[in-house]
Amino acid sequence: MTVDKESAEPVVHHGLEGVLAFESEVAFIDGHAPELLVRGYDIADLAHNFGYEQMAYLLVYGQVPNADELAAFNTELADLRPLPGPVLDLLRTAPASAHPMAVLRTAVSLLGVLDANADDIDQDSLLAAAKSLTAKFPTLVAAQTRLQAGLEPVGPEGARLGHAANYLYMVDGTEPAEPLRRAFDAALVLYAEHETNASTFACRVVVGTESDLYSAVVAGLGAIKGPLHGGAIDGAMNMLVTIGSADNAAAYVDAALAAKRKLPGFGHRVYRAGDPRASELREMALEMAAAVGDSKWFDIAIAAEKRMAETKGIIPNVDYFAAPVLYQLGFPLNLMTNVVASARITGWSAHIIEQYAKNRLIRPRARYTGERGKRLS
Ligand code: COA
Repeated sequence: MTVDKESAEPVVHHGLEGVLAFESEVAFIDGHAPELLVRGYDIADLAHNFGYEQMAYLLVYGQVPNADELAAFNTELADLRPLPGPVLDLLRTAPASAHPMAVLRTAVSLLGVLDANADDIDQDSLLAAAKSLTAKFPTLVAAQTRLQAGLEPVGPEGARLGHAANYLYMVDGTEPAEPLRRAFDAALVLYAEHETNASTFACRVVVGTESDLYSAVVAGLGAIKGPLHGGAIDGAMNMLVTIGSADNAAAYVDAALAAKRKLPGFGHRVYRAGDPRASELREMALEMAAAVGDSKWFDIAIAAEKRMAETKGIIPNVDYFAAPVLYQLGFPLNLMTNVVASARITGWSAHIIEQYAKNRLIRPRARYTGERGKRLS
């Protein structure tokens, strides 16, 4: 417990800001540089050179795969893509009013119920469950996307299509053009891992009790759903749609700030000078606008970013430019957080495996501010 030197009172770290809760070899963030390393590699390097399968392998196995390892991993993931019948039934019968992240969270919980080895927490079983979820998340989210649009789900292709290409194929029913596949692959890589963010911390807290991987991922999904975390991407795209045109952006930002509203897609607990993922996604949003011949969303985003910089000096985070990228790839306004979660599964898995390997129950304390000495009689 940290104690204040002057008052000798225990120090409360509100929001656990600046607290190091454990040691990790998965990712490193320098919020000032700014820099994000995953397994020692710079995130921009990974986004430019890796497909999502390589990123997934790097995260869960801790090293870059050679050609044979990657080929075997791709085949393994492709074989794991189909969903069990009861999970598809759940997606079909969930009420339209349910939050898409609540449906995804429930579907993952059901996958755990259907996995006879769900409670095995030895390294091989953990890897098997992590690979199964990595492969199945896109099938879940693509089916959600199509069912919401009143369309039948499109089942996964085999290993002929890579992870990102197959994902877009299951959304659209046609194989994506190469620039779109590449952009999506890079977005998934950028979202795969981000150190001790709230959802990853939630996963590690669950593992700390020696509960199972599915329970940990369900906790991660519950955390990432929130608008201050992964849910910000849906909020960011809704904001761009509400702004409607680049000419309206400054007035919108001014009004929101005057009303003390937080703009989704801006600000970060750790990065104060810039989010390295946002810089990549800004470039990608521009390329996407060119690829689909529509720069409206990019133009609005740039105009609002400029106004935020001029007024409050707050940086766009990963979700800001990812929103128009995913929207122009065909994902609807209320399903982008689901896409983010489908990428983050490998980061969660890496942390879950690491936490089991050197586990200590995570159990912080609170400073009591309630009353004392009360009596019922
Ligand atoms: N819009 C407007 N103002 C913002 C802001 C935003 N998105 N994010 C932070 N601020 C302001 C705060 O109001 C505060 O201003 P003040 O000092 O005048 O009171 C200042 O910046 C510091 O913010 P704070 O709330 O202390 O930062 P935090 O570390 O607690 O919060 C977030 C970080 C991410 C929760 C916060 O920036 C936020 O809510 N962003 C929007 C949601 C989002 O995009 N989340 C995804 C993160 S990847």
